[in-house]
Amino acid sequence: MSDRGNFSGRIGFILAATGSAIGLSNIWRFPYLAGQNGGAVFVIIYLLCIFIFCFPVMIGEISIGRAAGRDAYGSYTRLGNKKWGLLGLTGIVSSVIILSYYNVVAGWAFGFFVEIAFNNLLLKKDFSSFFGNFVNNISANLFYSFIFLLLTSLSVIGGIQKGIERANRILMPALFLVLLGLIGYSLTLPHAMEGIRFYLIPDFSKITAQTIFDALRLSFFTLSLGVGGLITYGSYVKKSENIVYAASVVTWADTVVAFLAGLMIFPLVFSAGQSPAEGPPLVFIVLPQIFQDMGPVVGKLMGSTFFLLLCFAALPSCISLMENPVAYFVDEKKYQRKNVVIILTAVVFIIGLPSLMSFGAVPFLNQLPFYKNRDFLTFVADVTDITLTIGGCLMCIFITYKWKIHNMNAELATGNSNFMGTLTQRYINFTIVYVCPLLLGVLSILVI
Ligand code: PHE
Ligand code: NA
Repeated sequence: MSDRGNFSGRIGFILAATGSAIGLSNIWRFPYLAGQNGGAVFVIIYLLCIFIFCFPVMIGEISIGRAAGRDAYGSYTRLGNKKWGLLGLTGIVSSVIILSYYNVVAGWAFGFFVEIAFNNLLLKKDFSSFFGNFVNNISANLFYSFIFLLLTSLSVIGGIQKGIERANRILMPALFLVLLGLIGYSLTLPHAMEGIRFYLIPDFSKITAQTIFDALRLSFFTLSLGVGGLITYGSYVKKSENIVYAASVVTWADTVVAFLAGLMIFPLVFSAGQSPAEGPPLVFIVLPQIFQDMGPVVGKLMGSTFFLLLCFAALPSCISLMENPVAYFVDEKKYQRKNVVIILTAVVFIIGLPSLMSFGAVPFLNQLPFYKNRDFLTFVADVTDITLTIGGCLMCIFITYKWKIHNMNAELATGNSNFMGTLTQRYINFTIVYVCPLLLGVLSILVI
């Protein structure tokens, strides 16, 4: 497989998979979904989903990729057959669609960075109407999201070692530090403790089916599961690596960042007297307000750093979303990486246009009559969330009934000679063979 490229050692894969995991969902989606779903109850259910369902699913995905050494479609066909390949293809298509809206939100983050660093955004008073005007400005958003997509494409053209690894090595520790700094600051504000209470003390009477469903799909999304992105990355992992160890580092890192983001946001929201149930604009409205209150110099510095780091968190996620279809066309169709990237960039940009225009610019897209009058971006995000959660569960069925669990265990024991017979092994097997298929059954009843 040397012609396909490999990650250089343990740290290469962990960085790439962590980069793919940590992204907009940790800092943007997790807080707003927690805010809409009653706070702490959501957080608890989310954590349960991560450790019960998602961690084993992640391990399954990586092991499929490494065992087959191909893209998502190729891996399912090699270890199974062409029919199972369709599951890989569905994931690849979902990847492209996710990238199309994800890139729009990344464009917002980039735009806010530019506005704070180089304009006088912080002189504005009402950030809720500022956000409204900002997302309404089509030409600016086209520009920001296009630049972002370009950065993604250039990294993916660079190939495995150069582009992806280098992009992933940058600034993750910085993100961590800035989060800690903002948490420290937010805790000093009046009413901060109300935010902490909302975030950490559960009120179980607030659990609804929606809470559970939102937590479930977010947990799959946040770990980049179910689209085959980790099959693709797994195919670049060397046989000497310990997959279980790598997956646990990725899972913990992602969970810690999401948790810290909540710890930062909720004290800010409550001290600013805002509603935690604001929805998608939450961080884009609440945070600029805080940065403004910090005064012109500190505010500008903290604000621009924060949104820049949000961009840095989003970039490796975009890269993995793009690498997934690229690997398919390179492995299966033998196209040149560069040409594939150029065409995909155009495709992603075009199918992202309705999402980009769905916050007011085009009234129909802002209030879809067939979708509870929600916006188009939310519609696409919700649909792809379902495909990836179901995709992750179908993968478990694939492992159990087609590839067979003992083959997965053998793959996991490669690079981890103590694996067999451990509690970890039994827990992973149990989830993949019984728990996830059961979950799939429940989900299909709910969705249909
Ligand atoms: N995990 C990324 C995030 O949390 C999003 C993502 C989903 C990336 C699926 C790749 C595949 O923001
Ligand atoms: Na994430």
